[in-house]
Amino acid sequence: KAPVLTIDGPSGAGKGTLSQLMASRLGWHFLDSGALYRLAALSALSHGIDLDRAEDVALVAAHLDIHFDPDSGQVLLEGDDVTRVLRTEETGGAASRVAAHTEVRQALLERQRAFRVAPGLVADGRDMGTVVFPDAELKIFLTASAEERARRRVAQLRESGGEADFEAVLADVQARDERDRNRKDSPLIPATDAITVDSTHLNVEAVLEAIMEQARA
Ligand code: CDP
Repeated sequence: KAPVLTIDGPSGAGKGTLSQLMASRLGWHFLDSGALYRLAALSALSHGIDLDRAEDVALVAAHLDIHFDPDSGQVLLEGDDVTRVLRTEETGGAASRVAAHTEVRQALLERQRAFRVAPGLVADGRDMGTVVFPDAELKIFLTASAEERARRRVAQLRESGGEADFEAVLADVQARDERDRNRKDSPLIPATDAITVDSTHLNVEAVLEAIMEQARA
């Protein structure tokens, strides 16, 4: 089996930037599992499916028709360009709702495992080290304070031309954390063999260095 490096943690801890950077340095594949939950939510919404209907959403999740262009970063869902809407707060909230359903998580399980091909995989998510790749070679749990994560989210939203109010984003980050931590299935907790890295006071380079050090050990 190809080696896997898992990077789990709460929203806004910097997993996305970090895991993409790790993947490109290692020359490994990259799995953005959050994007799959986001796409499942978008697909359900576009078919007029109530996000609380676990089985209907799971059916949609099992048959996601996705095209990803690695060069442009463009994402197509059933032929529609969803690149921008995929990253909005609304879609993140919808993803978190569908991710609470066991049936939906089950429907996406094999699809995620299929990303594990040579020379290796960097997997970004909430349950990569606990559920999807429990035998991963190296597991990182990346955290940061809720305030710092909200600050980064606001900066990110403004950078992409959106409006963002700190208090509203902080409330959203905290609500999402609550839901991710307290769900029955695959709650957001570090794997017992994960290494926790707190990025509150570390920039991307410093976090990368900390992880590379672990990888060498
Ligand atoms: O960028 P952000 O961390 O806010 O979101 P994301 O990583 O794209 O994930 C969106 C939502 O999907 C999260 O709030 C989680 O509820 C859910 N998710 C999950 O349950 N399991 C994963 N492996 C990845 C995401």
